[in-house]
Amino acid sequence: MKELFGQLADGTKVHRWSLENGGTRLKVLSYGGIVQSLELPDRSGQYANVSLGFDTVEEYEASSPYFGALVGRYGNRIAQGRFTLDGEDYRLSVNDGDNSLHGGTEGFDKRVWDVEEVTSGPDVGLVLRRTSADGEMGFPGTLTTKVTYTLTERGDWRIDYEATTDRATIVNLTNHVYWNLAGEGAGSVHDHELTIAASRYTPVDAGLIPTGELAEVADTPFDFREPKTVGEGLRRADPQLLHAKGIDHNLVLDKGLTERPEHIATLRDPSSGRTLKLATTEPGVQFYSGNFLDGTLVGPGGRAYRQGDALCLETQHFPDSPNRPEFPSTVLRPGGTYRSTTVHSFGI
Ligand code: BGC
Repeated sequence: MKELFGQLADGTKVHRWSLENGGTRLKVLSYGGIVQSLELPDRSGQYANVSLGFDTVEEYEASSPYFGALVGRYGNRIAQGRFTLDGEDYRLSVNDGDNSLHGGTEGFDKRVWDVEEVTSGPDVGLVLRRTSADGEMGFPGTLTTKVTYTLTERGDWRIDYEATTDRATIVNLTNHVYWNLAGEGAGSVHDHELTIAASRYTPVDAGLIPTGELAEVADTPFDFREPKTVGEGLRRADPQLLHAKGIDHNLVLDKGLTERPEHIATLRDPSSGRTLKLATTEPGVQFYSGNFLDGTLVGPGGRAYRQGDALCLETQHFPDSPNRPEFPSTVLRPGGTYRSTTVHSFGI
């Protein structure tokens, strides 16, 4: 179902699509490809929206910290907003101190996408399309992007990203849902139990740019190889947690970059019984523990969002890869196709 959701400050209309399949209910906006609501049943069949967001387009446009958004052209940070490709220097839009974050001041999260509803067999879904002009936010190449959100017969939410270019460029697309499996506004996620199949992570400097080291997670707050509560990780004394007021780090997935999505993480809320299993083709995941939520933003349920009220698991290539030749490459050239898939499987 498609309905008018609101309009941007410049008058552009924003629509909302509602999908339901296999017990999962998903609401998506044409603005930023934003997941405005994702509803799941708990162990007694009670539905709750498990992703932070807003009721109005005005709030999304004014001050959203990427709630539910489709992030691009480059998810995560690029140091100083600069990189060199094939001998040419590029300068990107800088929006996070000296660095470029999530595609710059007007990334893919702040654009209106062309959305088309599709069904394939028992699955329902949306195809989101957008062409990003050569030079947009400083990135080279016209990037033709197609992102498919599928709700499968069993209620999984699958994202397939695809992009092509007419000039060598860099791409790193992801999604920025803020998860709280007890329901948005239910309070802290510190009791959620998390497992991530990553033995290493990328330590960062004060600006959250990787130092280049791939450090072992053993004896650090980033060791989620065995199930552990989010709070347990956050309470460890480690100078890395001071840079970002908590966890805001890329974990290096043991499976590496894969052709097919492989299971990498499980999140479980003991109170509701809801679980999320994540599979991806990507080599990394940014685990962000909602550190910068400070009570100024209020969700649809009327509760203010405070630090630790949600967490993000952003499947991705590593931050600042364009300046780190030793990291898996984010370069896309004409003739090639960027592909990335992430599958969210829900259970109780
Ligand atoms: C970043 C955080 C940032 C958040 C919201 C995350 O992906 O890693 O540092 O605060 O997005 O902007």
